[in-house]
Amino acid sequence: MMGNTETRKGVDLLSAASSGRKGNDGPVRLVPIAWDDIKRVVRLIDQTLLPTELKYIEISAMDAMCEAIAKLRVRGAPAIGIAGAFGVYLGVAGRNFSSEEEFFEALDGVCSEVACVRPTAVNLSWAVERVKRVAREAADAARVRGERADLEDLAEAILNEAIMMIDEDNRVCRAMGEHGAILIPEGASVLTHCNAGALATAGWGTALAALYIAKEQGKEFKVWVDETRPLLQGSRLTAFELMEAGIDVTVICDNMAASLMGRGEIDLVILGADRVAANGDVCNKIGTYGLACLAKMHGIPFFVACPTSTLDLSLASGAEIPIEERNPREVTHGFGRQTAPCGVGVYNPAFDVTPHHLVSAIITERGIVRPPYGPGLAAIMRD
Ligand code: MRU
Repeated sequence: MMGNTETRKGVDLLSAASSGRKGNDGPVRLVPIAWDDIKRVVRLIDQTLLPTELKYIEISAMDAMCEAIAKLRVRGAPAIGIAGAFGVYLGVAGRNFSSEEEFFEALDGVCSEVACVRPTAVNLSWAVERVKRVAREAADAARVRGERADLEDLAEAILNEAIMMIDEDNRVCRAMGEHGAILIPEGASVLTHCNAGALATAGWGTALAALYIAKEQGKEFKVWVDETRPLLQGSRLTAFELMEAGIDVTVICDNMAASLMGRGEIDLVILGADRVAANGDVCNKIGTYGLACLAKMHGIPFFVACPTSTLDLSLASGAEIPIEERNPREVTHGFGRQTAPCGVGVYNPAFDVTPHHLVSAIITERGIVRPPYGPGLAAIMRD
């Protein structure tokens, strides 16, 4: 169930409330997701309310976490992975199981339920599988010691792993940002799409981490952001968080990018990913493919930043990636006003696939991968 809520002014939310990150990590940024060990709840910024309201919600049950993920209160591939891991914990915590078998049967059910809330970003199923494995390993370790696993300890092992994912994500995104910042020249004019920033992760962002680090390095640059129809993650979230970070940002409608590129206003495109296949095909927010085509036509570098947890080398190409289709009302009744006739047909895929040949480089926490992506991605996963 969703418990108490708390609303604060934007500036207050720029505190490192959960992780205590500061110092050589540079300016402290948003803390979109945190575990409150006293209240035993997950604290999330409700991203559906941004940019006009900054509000934390407290989540203490799996169903509420699934609802938060489905409604995009928490969103962005790395962030929904972490949220999903906490959701699994909430799904088994405090329940009475009569045996280890019953615990693991319930855990399987909980994991399937959480993992299928959003099918495209592989980070969700990756994180769910990871916490499931941790519980199995804890049970196996008890067996090796000749003991029976304490079922509460198994649930705690899941919780600890989820908490660990927050710090890990901050480290990974920071490393990605350091690699990515190399690609941001002084004075650059950068285009991004959707939100691949702090709000999409534990606090640093993927594509936007490169910009945060570039700023830390003293570089001056300008960012253009597509508003990103239909849910406006670009204008509501990216513009908000870049402004909070003191980065020069201008919002454009999605159909303005071609005109800007044609006028020579864009030096590079950098954005995130929800899943990358073994051949380097990139699945990301709908509209990414169009931008990649435009960038190719105008000779503009097109960079994708994602952690290795977003790489899905089990899929040969992007054609195998499941594409989430969302409620038609997001298109016909966006933000409270009807903008299409009643009963009209609507197609509302949340993501598209950009073929690898349109991608100039993929930035990960382990380094920058350039074409050909097949061997490059395989090597980076081996190292
Ligand atoms: O539907 P969303 O808002 O969860 O979409 C995910 C994204 O924000 C983007 O696709 C993003 O570029 C990849 S996640 C860093």
